[in-house]
Amino acid sequence: MPVAAADLLAWYDRHARTLPWRVGPAARKAGGRADPYRVWLSEVMLQQTTVAAVKDYFHRFTTLWPTVGALAAADDEAVMKAWAGLGYYARARNLKRCAEVVARERGGRFPETEAGLLALPGIGAYTAAAVAAIAFGAPAAVVDGNVERVVTRVLALATPLPAAKAPVRAFVATLVPPDRPGEFAEAMMDLGATLCSPRRPACALCPWSGGCAARAAGTQENFPVKAPKPDRPVRRGAAFVAIRPDGAVLVEKRPEKGLLGGMTGVPTSAWVTAEGSAPKKRGRPAKATAPAALPAAGAGAAPFPAGWQRMTAPVEHTFTHFHLVLEVWLAHVPAGHPAGDGWWSPAGALQGEALPSVFRKVLAAAGL
Ligand code: ADE
Repeated sequence: MPVAAADLLAWYDRHARTLPWRVGPAARKAGGRADPYRVWLSEVMLQQTTVAAVKDYFHRFTTLWPTVGALAAADDEAVMKAWAGLGYYARARNLKRCAEVVARERGGRFPETEAGLLALPGIGAYTAAAVAAIAFGAPAAVVDGNVERVVTRVLALATPLPAAKAPVRAFVATLVPPDRPGEFAEAMMDLGATLCSPRRPACALCPWSGGCAARAAGTQENFPVKAPKPDRPVRRGAAFVAIRPDGAVLVEKRPEKGLLGGMTGVPTSAWVTAEGSAPKKRGRPAKATAPAALPAAGAGAAPFPAGWQRMTAPVEHTFTHFHLVLEVWLAHVPAGHPAGDGWWSPAGALQGEALPSVFRKVLAAAGL
């Protein structure tokens, strides 16, 4: 028996997750759709991280800026501060630019088609399909990592990702029900997130277990097949935490271009590629295998001479394309010490700066 959208939707009607960007069950039954602004914002955020982690950011953004017009009118720096910690900061800048285009050129209304949405800054194929389906009821095939897992199992598709993306999308397109495409998309995501989990999927509870080829063969945990990823290179560097007697910490704005561009951080050395390979993403966190004797930047790269003390444990942080090992150096400097190109962030204001996660780790390593 092949899988059918109706079985999934019947399951969704009973088990849909309640999420802040969705309409409730009563409104859904009455044909109500979610606010396109909230759908767009949540989908952009959900590309960064998990539903659980997005909730707080979503709440903060929609409290500060309840409409796309409000976000368009916001101060850029305030938006970057609210985004800090989510990663991929170019995405936050595109988010702001997209809000400006929608507010100024389109009277605050998002385009209702995938093609119209794709033309906006920062909106790619996934977001365009998700917003078109969920906010506007367009019959778009929405494919994220959850959907890839569900479909490669249903089909027992041996093609590894990313080559499997095209056949997965084509299969989803054959299933999208014209009357409930948005709920179908969200149902697929919920199924992937709750029952059809990467390990130990709860097949006994799945509305599609009868039509799932992997389940029939008992091979569900083998899908999706993934092409092996090359190891991430390791880069090394040093970060410098200067503290005044009043607790203020020296921070600076990073150059607009490049990694973490335009965000706030403490001064650092250059981050230089070292030999060794990065810990794998899955499993117990391991330490990078780069030999400790590699040229660490050391206090010589500090922004000014001071009594720099090295913290025993370096900070490690994994970016998309490399793994970073940062020595953390701490110095207590006198009141009135010049800030150079940066500024002294008062102790109470530090957490509110536009600090990416790697710098939050650095401050924590320095005891702040
Ligand atoms: N992941 C990405 N988009 C989602 C959505 N709309 N609902 C649940 N999980 C998601």
